[in-house]
Amino acid sequence: MQKQLIAALSLPALALSVLSTPSHDHTTSCSKTCVVDSSAHDASYAIERAFRDCGHETAEKRGKVVFKKNELYNVRRVMNTTGLTNVDVEIHGTLLWDTNIHYWLNNSLPVGYQNQSTAWVFGGENVYWTGFDYGTLDGNGQVWYDFINGTNNYPGRPHQISYAGMKNSVIEKTRFVQSQMWTMTVIHSENVLLQDMYVNSTDTKREVGFDFSSLNTDGADVIYSNNITFRNWTIDCGDDNISTKANSTNILIENQDWYTGLGFAMGSIGQYDGEYETVENVTVRNVTVHDRMRYAAYFKTWTGVSRGYPPNGGGGGLGYAANITLSDFKLDNTSGIFAITQCTSYNDARGECDTSKFNIRDITLENWSGTSTSAVLAELQCSGASPCTGIKYNNVSAYIPSNNTMASHYLCGNVSEPIGFECTDGLWEENNR
Ligand SMILES: *[C@@H]1O[C@H](CO)[C@@H](O)[C@H](O)[C@H]1NC(C)=O
Ligand SMILES: *[C@@H]1O[C@H](CO)[C@@H](O)[C@H](O)[C@H]1NC(C)=O
Ligand SMILES: *[C@@H]1O[C@H](CO)[C@@H](O)[C@H](O)[C@H]1NC(C)=O
Ligand SMILES: *[C@@H]1O[C@H](CO)[C@@H](O)[C@H](O)[C@H]1NC(C)=O
Ligand SMILES: *[C@@H]1O[C@H](CO)[C@@H](O)[C@H](O)[C@H]1NC(C)=O
Ligand SMILES: *[C@@H]1O[C@H](CO)[C@@H](O)[C@H](O)[C@H]1NC(C)=O
Ligand SMILES: *[C@@H]1O[C@H](CO)[C@@H](O)[C@H](O)[C@H]1NC(C)=O
Ligand SMILES: *[C@@H]1O[C@H](CO)[C@@H](O)[C@H](O)[C@H]1NC(C)=O
Ligand SMILES: *[C@@H]1O[C@H](CO)[C@@H](O)[C@H](O)[C@H]1NC(C)=O
Ligand SMILES: *[C@@H]1O[C@H](CO)[C@@H](O)[C@H](O)[C@H]1NC(C)=O
Ligand SMILES: *[C@@H]1O[C@H](CO)[C@@H](O)[C@H](O)[C@H]1NC(C)=O
Ligand SMILES: *[C@@H]1O[C@H](CO)[C@@H](O)[C@H](O)[C@H]1NC(C)=O
Repeated sequence: MQKQLIAALSLPALALSVLSTPSHDHTTSCSKTCVVDSSAHDASYAIERAFRDCGHETAEKRGKVVFKKNELYNVRRVMNTTGLTNVDVEIHGTLLWDTNIHYWLNNSLPVGYQNQSTAWVFGGENVYWTGFDYGTLDGNGQVWYDFINGTNNYPGRPHQISYAGMKNSVIEKTRFVQSQMWTMTVIHSENVLLQDMYVNSTDTKREVGFDFSSLNTDGADVIYSNNITFRNWTIDCGDDNISTKANSTNILIENQDWYTGLGFAMGSIGQYDGEYETVENVTVRNVTVHDRMRYAAYFKTWTGVSRGYPPNGGGGGLGYAANITLSDFKLDNTSGIFAITQCTSYNDARGECDTSKFNIRDITLENWSGTSTSAVLAELQCSGASPCTGIKYNNVSAYIPSNNTMASHYLCGNVSEPIGFECTDGLWEENNR
């Protein structure tokens, strides 16, 4: 205790203004606490300083960073709080991102995939982060939804937060609203539990596309990560609800309540010419898919022909998606059910759907029921260059209330030896989503 007090007192005066004196925490023998001051015009300096001062502790003496109750933290510049160890993060207040679009476009930090960028890169080991079901990250996204006006993957548009290099950590009970773009990336991370989250990014001025609320406002995207669990999330985001991209392994997504969006997304993937990427051992279970969802789940790969650069161009990637189980889905009047497309290409170019060498195999759908406005239970456009194998349907049904029928179409292209269903039709149209 004494040692830390001295350490704190030796900090510059500026630091002291944002750092409460280290206080005793009864849950550990002695811990160092930084309470973040919210009064500055731009709280980002105080936030970074708090993590610097209290975010690098030992397992015996954990640190703590506290965002105060009912306080509003205005964040006006990018933040990088990575390499943390043994810290508890308590979000009692709200972090609100500034709307200076030109600043963010020029300064967002690279995420390290797909030329994507972020407003806050956060990482560390043995981190416990909680928002107590009310702590909020607010991206002030409406200005972005207005600004991009339908442009896909606008360059430099930031994700709200990128959890990068997280290990053995828990992130929970936090509200993520009006994200600027993707709500979060989980990248280069392992053994992380993310639970009890509320995500809502809704364009309140216009509806984009089908019944989306907004564009590129994914709930969460997993990249280069292993053993990640998403449990008990409510997501109303208008795009991929939770997506597993390059090298996502041993991922569990369960107890989900999804309102608008494209559902569980495998991909997009296969965007980097000649690179080998995998998605393997994924379980998605106990998901309620509400009436403004485009799909419950879909898989999307780039074609085998490379055109342009990420994020909006690419193709020619290799690898596979294997051993993915989607079970216990409840459909509530969804407009689509399950789709695979290997047609993704630059600026929605058409064709070349049979060129991808990225292989999709051992995918099981089981125990799906409820209502849909679509009669298509499966729209499986697999690549001729690498047909899908081991696609299994077990106890999957959807009732169409408008005409009192059951969905009955299985549309197939290059599906080898389907299990538990027979293909009823070829593909009706190209799906380059
Ligand atoms: C952003 O960058 C562009 C091009 O480099 C430049 O014209 C513009 O002034 C910059 N804006 C800000 C706010 O830095
Ligand atoms: C964040 O800071 C760390 C440590 O200084 C640095 O290695 C890393 O490149 C930074 N990340 C980004 C995205 O700028
Ligand atoms: C947004 O895009 C639509 C067409 O895509 C166009 O008609 C409209 O003028 C654009 N709005 C603004 C503010 O640029
Ligand atoms: C996976 O991560 C969880 C934390 O979410 C951890 O409890 C578990 O031990 C990890 N599993 C393996 C095999 O490391
Ligand atoms: C699920 O998360 C919500 C907050 O988003 C929380 O209120 C609720 O208690 C959680 N449910 C369970 C079973 O933990
Ligand atoms: C998300 O926010 C919109 C707009 O504020 C609201 O209408 C909708 O009910 C919210 N969704 C959920 C699931 O809370
Ligand atoms: C399924 O998920 C919901 C939350 O979406 C939860 O309330 C329920 O307990 C879960 N059921 C099981 C069997 O885990
Ligand atoms: C992704 O996984 C593949 C297969 O394990 C591996 O060859 C490749 O190097 C990984 N890529 C990255 C960037 O980690
Ligand atoms: C998939 O799970 C199996 C069984 O737990 C395990 O043996 C295998 O290593 C896992 N694959 C990957 C890529 O982690
Ligand atoms: C498939 O993945 C699940 C986890 O999602 C794992 O339990 C199972 O062992 C894996 N099967 C194989 C054959 O690797
Ligand atoms: C990002 O895009 C530029 C062109 O806009 C391209 O040259 C570069 O290779 C891309 N970087 C990555 C990592 O995809
Ligand atoms: C029932 O409605 C669905 C969805 O509109 C339609 O695709 C299907 O053809 C209809 N079935 C019959 C028998 O009319």
